Amino acid sequence: MARKLFVAGNWKMNTSLAAAKALASEVASLVGAQDAVDVALCPPFVYLPAVKEAIGGGKIALGAQNMFYENDGAFTGEISGAMLKDIGCRYVILGHSERRHVIGESDEIINRKMLKAISDGLLPIFCVGELLAEREADQTMEVVRRQVQVGLEGVSATDMLKVTVAYEPVWAIGTGKTATPEQAQEVHAMIRGLLVNMYDKTVAEAVRIQYGGSVKASNAADLLGRPDIDGALVGGASLKAADFAGIVNAGK
Ligand code: PGA
Repeated sequence: MARKLFVAGNWKMNTSLAAAKALASEVASLVGAQDAVDVALCPPFVYLPAVKEAIGGGKIALGAQNMFYENDGAFTGEISGAMLKDIGCRYVILGHSERRHVIGESDEIINRKMLKAISDGLLPIFCVGELLAEREADQTMEVVRRQVQVGLEGVSATDMLKVTVAYEPVWAIGTGKTATPEQAQEVHAMIRGLLVNMYDKTVAEAVRIQYGGSVKASNAADLLGRPDIDGALVGGASLKAADFAGIVNAGK
């Protein structure tokens, strides 16, 4: 069964209210009507409602960049999965490398968030990826394997079908240094093999694995053409509508 490609824009801590509305409207006018590739926009929390309005009733989905693993209560500064559902989010990015390495989230915290997101009815985009030092020390497979195994602990086979995995080598994020399609494919294939062991072949074949890290319109077709690369999680290039649309169109 062919997996439908999925391209998500991770705006990170960028834009303003006006810029977020304008960017979302422009993306919607460029790729909001097509159905060949699934598309999601993940703006900062505070702009989610405005972006939802700007993308209107088209095919583009809304995603958040993070959430907390409790329902409600005294967790100053946090946002719950129920709140995200409430305002129309379909996806939530979890375990992004900036949350792992800048904010200090552990595999265990990410696992709690994964379980909560799924029980709240959100579809997680679950990010994994090695640091440059880990790649240079030949630890890529070991690190990614641990992140996948711990991050997905307790996620059932049925729930795994709701998860998108995003392989994002940390050394390729925001650096302009993309992993070669061969390097990315190698890790994607390892992740899919791991999913066969953890679940079964049917689940492993159904789960989409995005690549992320300096994806641009110019390198997207080559990456998306690999057998185990099922889409892209796009940072920098998602801040320009034409560049982002170019990536989506490369997947058609
Ligand atoms: P980048 O970011 O495209 O700017 O490298 C990707 C990501 O962090 O999701």
